[in-house]
Amino acid sequence: MQKMLSGVKPTGTLHIGNYFGAMKQFVDMYHKYESTFFVADYHALNSVKDPAELRAGIIDIAAAYIAIGLDPNKALMFKQSDVSEHTELAWIFNNLVTVPFLMQAHAYKDAIANGREANVALFDYPMLMAADILLYDTDVVPVGRDQQQHVEYAREAAAKFNHAYGATFKEPKEIILEGVAVVPGTDGRKMSKTYGNTIPLFGTKDEIAQAVMSIITDSNAESPVNVYAIHALFRDCDYLGELYKANKGKYKALKEALIEDIEAVVAPMRERRDAITDEEVKQILTHGAERARARASAKMADVRAKVGVSL
Ligand code: ADP
Ligand code: TRP
Repeated sequence: MQKMLSGVKPTGTLHIGNYFGAMKQFVDMYHKYESTFFVADYHALNSVKDPAELRAGIIDIAAAYIAIGLDPNKALMFKQSDVSEHTELAWIFNNLVTVPFLMQAHAYKDAIANGREANVALFDYPMLMAADILLYDTDVVPVGRDQQQHVEYAREAAAKFNHAYGATFKEPKEIILEGVAVVPGTDGRKMSKTYGNTIPLFGTKDEIAQAVMSIITDSNAESPVNVYAIHALFRDCDYLGELYKANKGKYKALKEALIEDIEAVVAPMRERRDAITDEEVKQILTHGAERARARASAKMADVRAKVGVSL
C-alpha cells in the first residue's frame, strides 16, 4: 500500500481555507493509503512564541484531525516534537543542500521582501519539512498549493542524499486539489489569518454568520462575486446558477443561503470537536508518538550507518 503523509502547523484558528485547501483531501483519500498526519509544532515554533498558545494550538490541530473525520485507529497521528528523528534528519540534509538553493524558497523570499528579519529556522524550514516527509518513506503528500515548493525541496533532499550515499529515500509527490487551490476570503483575497478575512472552521453558527455577513460586495453588480466564490465550495454551479439568478441583487438572501450551506457541512464537525477532551487527544498523540518513533528510528539507523556516524 502506498504511504500518505501530511502535517498542519498549530499557528492559529483553523478556517475553511485550511479545510478546503488542504485538510479535506486528507479525509477524502486517507483510507486508500497507509496514512500519517502529524502536528508540525516545531514548524509553528517559528511564529508562536507563547508556550500556552502553542500547547493549546497543538491540541486544537490534533482534535481537528479527528473532528474532520480522520480515524486515529486507521491513521497514525502524533506531534513532530515527540519524534526527535525529524530534527536530526533535517541536520543531515543541511549538509547536502546549499544556501543559494534555500534562498529561493517562497516563504523566505516573502519574509525578506516584507522587511522581516528571517531567523535561521525560517530559512531552514524546507529541510525540516523534507525530514518530516522522507523519514516515513512517503509516496504522496496532500497539501495546499502554497506548499508545492516545499515538497519539491523534499524531493531534492532525497535525491541529494541518494546520490551521495546510495538509494535510501523515496522521492515523494504532492497532491494538490485543482479548482479549490486557493480559497478566497471575505474580502476576495486569499483567505488567511494574516488578512483577518477568514470564516472559522469550528466557529459557532453566529460566528460563521458574522463572517459571511461581512463579505465585501460590490453594490453595482447583480451577483456578489465574493459570496459566490465561497459558495462554490459548498454547492455545484448548476444549483448556484439557479439560486443566484432567482436572487439577483438580493445580497442578504444569498448570504443567508451561504450561511445555511456552511452550517450543514461544519455543524457535524463542530459537534465532534466539542465532544473530544484534551485528555483523549493527549492519549492519541502519546500512543501515536510511540509508533512513529519506531518507524523513524529504524529509518535513522540506516541513515546514520550510511553517513558514517554509527560505529
Ligand atoms: P494562513 O494563511 O491562514 O496563515 P496557513 O498558512 O497556516 O494559513 O495554512 C495552513 C495550510 O492551509 C496551508 O499550508 C495551505 O495549504 C492551506 N491554506 C491556507 N489558506 C488557504 C486558502 N485560502 N486556500 C487554500 N488553502 C489554504
Ligand atoms: N509547511 C506546512 C504548512 O505550512 C506544514 C508541514 C510541515 C507539512 N511539515 C509537513 C505538510 C510535511 C506536509 C508534509 O502547511
